[in-house]
Amino acid sequence: MKISFIGGGVMAEALIKGILEAGIAAPSSIKVGEPDKDRRNHLAEEHCIEVASVNADAMNGSDLVVLSVKPQIIQPVMKELQSQVQLEQTVMSIVAGAKISTLIDGLSHPSIVRVMPNTPAQIGAGMTVWTTSNDVQDTAKSVVRDILTTLGKEIYVNDEKLLDAATALSASGPAYVFLFIEALIDAGVYMGMQRDVARELVLQTVSGSTRLVEDSGLHPGHLKDMVSSPGGGTVEALKSFEKSGFRGAVLEAVNSAYKKYQELGDSD
Ligand SMILES: NC(=O)c1ccc[n+]([C@@H]2O[C@H](COP(=O)([O-])OP(=O)(O)OC[C@H]3O[C@@H](n4cnc5c(N)ncnc54)[C@H](OP(=O)(O)O)[C@@H]3O)[C@@H](O)[C@H]2O)c1
Repeated sequence: MKISFIGGGVMAEALIKGILEAGIAAPSSIKVGEPDKDRRNHLAEEHCIEVASVNADAMNGSDLVVLSVKPQIIQPVMKELQSQVQLEQTVMSIVAGAKISTLIDGLSHPSIVRVMPNTPAQIGAGMTVWTTSNDVQDTAKSVVRDILTTLGKEIYVNDEKLLDAATALSASGPAYVFLFIEALIDAGVYMGMQRDVARELVLQTVSGSTRLVEDSGLHPGHLKDMVSSPGGGTVEALKSFEKSGFRGAVLEAVNSAYKKYQELGDSD
């Protein structure tokens, strides 16, 4: 399996690490097209893979071409690659907001995989949602699934519309969780705790609560009720959250991200 990356940034490196660790491809079968010399040197030294300053050199002869550039430059990159991409190659895009129809038209190429990962992928704890155009063969889908599994969990969806919702929920999601974590740590400091102590308490509380929801299989509302004794402090805090419209704010915020991603996709 020969894999090339167009753009050798943070996400590309997370994928490269996963692919190498899982033995999906040998270092000599991975090539990266990347304009930044320091970045090329880093990738070549750290992972012993091939690097190229010209994208056409990187994608020549590969089975899977991963588009891992920023959304702002996808148009010129597609223009550059259009005459180079071969019919037998599968193109996998991780570019946020780039729709399958945009990629098919921009590359004049039918076999497209659209992937939406999130930042915890960098430590193998990611959540990735993906879909494909009709032309992608089952063997290519299976390779893509193996690659995405190295980033954490993956879910395939048939309906591309779900990718915008997934972008608002799981791709933007870490930002919401980080905000909540930061606010909880501030609350600890406000009560007089040292910041490092508050940080340790909050991180273990958030990861422990996540594991409890997963392991118990119970509804989060049920687990919340179990912590809230009648007339106690937890229910007092919950009243305050409800008074501030916490649930509505979360729904509003995620839905506004969803609308924004739909708008961005439509403006291509
Ligand atoms: N990070 C995330 O959590 C996340 C989550 C979901 C989706 N994504 C998507 O993943 C994609 C990559 O994100 P990232 O965080 O890995 O970004 P990144 O670290 O900025 O990586 C992009 C890389 O592409 C390089 N590049 C610029 N112009 C190029 C060109 N013409 N040809 C080839 N490479 C070029 C950049 O080099 P220079 O630095 O020199 O410009 C940079 O090294 C984005 O489209 C993003 O939407 C990211």
